[in-house]
Amino acid sequence: MPRLFSPVDISKEEKEVRKDYFDRHTPVVICDDSAREGEKFRVKVRLGTEYTHPDEPDHHIKYVQLWNRETFLAEAHFAPGTMGNNPSHVEVDFFIVPGPVSLNLSAMAVCTKHGLWQSNPREVSIIKN
Ligand SMILES: [Fe+2]
Repeated sequence: MPRLFSPVDISKEEKEVRKDYFDRHTPVVICDDSAREGEKFRVKVRLGTEYTHPDEPDHHIKYVQLWNRETFLAEAHFAPGTMGNNPSHVEVDFFIVPGPVSLNLSAMAVCTKHGLWQSNPREVSIIKN
């Protein structure tokens, strides 16, 4: 079983010492606080807020997934060189259509060298039409 890196499991001290390593691998879910039931809703997933990740043949971000609680929603795959072989913030826009129940979104990302990384969860309330 792979080790899962999650912001909630990493101590504050470890995060500070290896800040660039954690930042460049950790996906962040970026979206509005609320969505309208039955209407298309954009959810952006971006890796790293400060530090960029390499895009090399043996070291790149392979895929990004979007989850709602324990339900898998979508994923995007990347070949090496997609970011021009330059360090970058991998970024994906997913479009989902929420039902009547609030969302608890999270993202997963895999680095070919450094494994599986999880975002913090993001609560989204639903506005009924
Ligand atoms: Fe990496």
